Amino acid sequence: MTAPDISKSPDRIAGMFDAIAGNYDFLNHLLSAGIDKRWRKRAVRALALTGRERVLDLCTGTADLAIAARSATPPARSVVGVDFAGEMLRIGLDKLRAARLDPAITLIRGDAANIPIGNGAVDAITIGFGIRNVQNTAAACAEMRRTLAPGGRLAILEFAIPTTPLVSSAYRFYFNRVLPAIGRLISKHNAAYGYLPASVGAFASPDEFVKILRHAGFVDIQARPLTFGIVYLYTATRG
Ligand SMILES: C[S@@+](CC[C@H](N)C(=O)[O-])C[C@H]1O[C@@H](n2cnc3c(N)ncnc32)[C@H](O)[C@@H]1O
Repeated sequence: MTAPDISKSPDRIAGMFDAIAGNYDFLNHLLSAGIDKRWRKRAVRALALTGRERVLDLCTGTADLAIAARSATPPARSVVGVDFAGEMLRIGLDKLRAARLDPAITLIRGDAANIPIGNGAVDAITIGFGIRNVQNTAAACAEMRRTLAPGGRLAILEFAIPTTPLVSSAYRFYFNRVLPAIGRLISKHNAAYGYLPASVGAFASPDEFVKILRHAGFVDIQARPLTFGIVYLYTATRG
């Protein structure tokens, strides 16, 4: 068996997500047994929204985290979702229209390493399961700092490898064997669901990612394990 390709050129990553876009939401909820919705709500809660915030949801995909930010109580004043996969955005836009959220949530095609919005233009940034796919993590973190207003908040969800022995073995079996098989069967895409566990393994550990955020100029950084540490919620403030 050949090792999964974890190269992250924007064309390859955007093409891969475009190819699985039609099955993305269904598989997300199935493969996480619906817990993904709770993780997104938890990330939005960490922002402690007051109803006045302009939120940027980077790597927004089909806009679930953008929708969670706008559906919170109180909701974000407005949300801009940015992603470079046009097909993911198209499905997101259909969802926004169906839920009549399209005036308050705007979707823009763009790269997290070169965010198409101005300096200090947003009060909070969210990313759900996107940062590990970005080719240059440090460049994206610098862009997040640039686009956040002073004191702006960051909430990032990303998968991690749990360290508790029992959880770790069960996780490895599920993530490396069961999940890619189900993903392949339903999406008919060979590479994408092999890429998922491989890219998690290759991404920075929680301690390393905290260092990257600190280096980019964020302060008050916290890394909280969720669901036995299979996901981490990183929060930080623009210093
Ligand atoms: C796993 S999906 C996550 C989607 C959504 N945030 C969620 O919570 O389900 C990752 C998304 O990140 C996007 N992405 C990856 N790298 C990106 C980059 N450099 N710039 C913009 N979008 C990127 C992909 O196109 C994909 O839609």
